[in-house]
Amino acid sequence: VLLPTPEDCGRVVADAVAGSVLAALARGGPVVLGLATGSSPLLAYRELLRRHAEEGLDLTGVQAFLLDEYVGLPAGHPESYREVIRRELTDALGLDPAVVHGPDGAAPDPLRAAREYEAQLRAAGSVAVQVLGIGANGHLGFNEPGSSLASRTRLKTLTEQTRQDNARFFGDDVAAVPRHVITQGLGTILDADHLVLVATGEHKADAVAAAVEGPVTASCPGSVLQLHPHVTVVVDEAAGSRL
Ligand code: GLP
Repeated sequence: VLLPTPEDCGRVVADAVAGSVLAALARGGPVVLGLATGSSPLLAYRELLRRHAEEGLDLTGVQAFLLDEYVGLPAGHPESYREVIRRELTDALGLDPAVVHGPDGAAPDPLRAAREYEAQLRAAGSVAVQVLGIGANGHLGFNEPGSSLASRTRLKTLTEQTRQDNARFFGDDVAAVPRHVITQGLGTILDADHLVLVATGEHKADAVAAAVEGPVTASCPGSVLQLHPHVTVVVDEAAGSRL
């Protein structure tokens, strides 16, 4: 879906998310919503919050699972992804923090925390819809270029580029950005029933073109989306300008 503005993208992503989640809730049983952090989904989250406040959108009964988390930030650190998603979305949506899950980046044994998160996700049932952003280098979650297309949740080292990109959340201090993360693998992400990728801005144009029209390759983790039967890619004109 190619739309004029980021705001249009936010509305269409909110439609896709609410549609998939409400359909899953109507079928009964546990419903898992896959959430992403980063700036790309923020307008969609704002739109979901508006619908919650003004139109009675009710996501009670949903379990939310994050894609990834920094390793080494103390629990409750304002930039830990679990805190970010609570602040940006789930608290105001009325979801209990107990149903908002993320990898435990503060665990003493992160390798084990990664395995446990994968197991927790599998036990929760299939992800009805997974929201995704994409890094300028094509990363999904924190699966940097070179990640196996079949990878599962695991400990990863961030590239220097990603640490620099994310320094803005740490007072522009690259040294404060954690070096390691726990991320769902590309294989884990592909297990979701519906993937919704949102990208806006010129700086995402190359990554979007490579992911959507390039070869399926670990050099561009986003290209793994081509292997999934139900993907919605939502871009504004700038991010879609090289398609
Ligand atoms: C971050 C996150 C990703 C996100 C990406 C793009 O590092 N781990 O999940 O999609 O980078 O971020 P943004 O949406 O802010 O451009």
